[in-house]
This record gives sequence, structure tokens and C-alpha cells, in this order.
Amino acid sequence: MIKAPRIAPSILAADFARLGEEIALIEDEVDLLHVDVMDGHFVPNLTIGMPVISSIRRVTDLPIDCHLMTLNPDFYLEDLKEAGVDIATVHIEVFPDPNKVAGEAREAGLGFGLVVNPPTPFEAIEPFIELADMIVVMSVNPGFGGQGFMESVLPKLERVRKFIDSAGLSTDIEVDGGIGPNTIGQARDAGADIFVAGTSVFRAPNPVIAVQEMRAAISR
Ligand code: DX5
Ligand code: ZN
Repeated sequence: MIKAPRIAPSILAADFARLGEEIALIEDEVDLLHVDVMDGHFVPNLTIGMPVISSIRRVTDLPIDCHLMTLNPDFYLEDLKEAGVDIATVHIEVFPDPNKVAGEAREAGLGFGLVVNPPTPFEAIEPFIELADMIVVMSVNPGFGGQGFMESVLPKLERVRKFIDSAGLSTDIEVDGGIGPNTIGQARDAGADIFVAGTSVFRAPNPVIAVQEMRAAISR
């Protein structure tokens, strides 16, 4: 069953020189923080690692959802736990059989999520959905914030929702990329319960109002 919607701002769109202030601004309005780790290999961009995550952990009690866009995310699981991450998500494109990495994440004391890119079909993750606490359906090709929401992923999102509901699982479904007040409704209707939003929150004139607008758009 679909759960109450949760908003997960992606700090990628925040001002990194004022990260603590940016987080403090929206902290009471949101449900978790989405942290994008990129290594310049799996995606053509570099972001942040342990030192920044540890610093974030010191300024907020929000759960940290760490999206690993790296080639060897398994190498970092213990360090991520140590830095204060709650749930680590890895790409099915990196681990076509994620059984081993799921076990390693659990051993490290982390929640485990599986991410699927726009071109990757539902069938790639279907056998592994039960391994995960969360399935992340990418609604942009990963690597950069500020891209447009891809409606073409909605049928896949619906299939993930149907699978989870018919198997009686309580797995969360997160949607990541291009989410804002104008796109969140479609993602909600297709079955998502966690909404990552970077640009639409941190680049808005008022991030708090932006979050409230997103909640309003799906409170029917
Ligand atoms: C893209 C990242 C996203 C991104 C979302 O590679 O995984 O989490 O920060 O940013 P917006 O909301 O700007 O699309
Ligand atoms: Zn992300």
C-alpha cells in the first residue's frame, strides 16, 4: 500500500558554502535528506564524500538517504555508516545481481535501496525487489541536477508499485529527478511515496514554500 508522501530534498542543488543554513531552513518541513555521491566514472560528474556527509550528520537528525552513483559503492559501505548514512542506494546497472552488496549493506548496519535508470527495464530489478527497503526509480539520467522530469518512466513506476502491493511488501518507492510542484502529482499517481527534489527546493526563492507547494499538489 502506498504510504504517506515523504519529501527528500537533494542537497546537490544547495549552496555548499552554506550547507548547514540551507538544511536548517527546510529541516522541519521535510522527511529525509537525499545525498548524491558521484565518482566521475559511473556518471560524468563529481560530488561529495565522507567528510561532507559527516558534517551534515552533525547538523541534522533527518535520515540520510545516500544515492551512490559510483562504480564501487560496496567499497564504501562501512565508511558511509560511520559518516552517519541511514540508507545506501546502489544502481542495478552496477550490480545486475545485487544479492552480495545487499548483504554487505545490512552487515554494515545500513538500510539498502536499489536504483534503476530510465533506460533500464522493470525486469532488471523485478527478481531483487524483495532484497530492498526502497526502490528508486530515476526520472532523469543520473549525473546532474536541474534536468526535466521524464514521463516515460511512469509505466515502470506503476509496475514497481503493482509488484510491491501484490507481493504484500512494505518497500518504499522513491522517485528521483525533475520533481517539483508541477511533476510530483504524476509521480504520486504512479505510486511513489518518497520524492527527491533538488532544484525545485534549493533554487526556489523560498524553499519552505516550494516544499509546501509540492505537498499541496498531492494532498487530494
Ligand atoms: C541526479 C541526482 C538527483 C538530483 C535531483 O543524478 O540523482 O538526486 O540531485 O535533482 P533535481 O531535483 O534538480 O532533478
Ligand atoms: Zn539522487
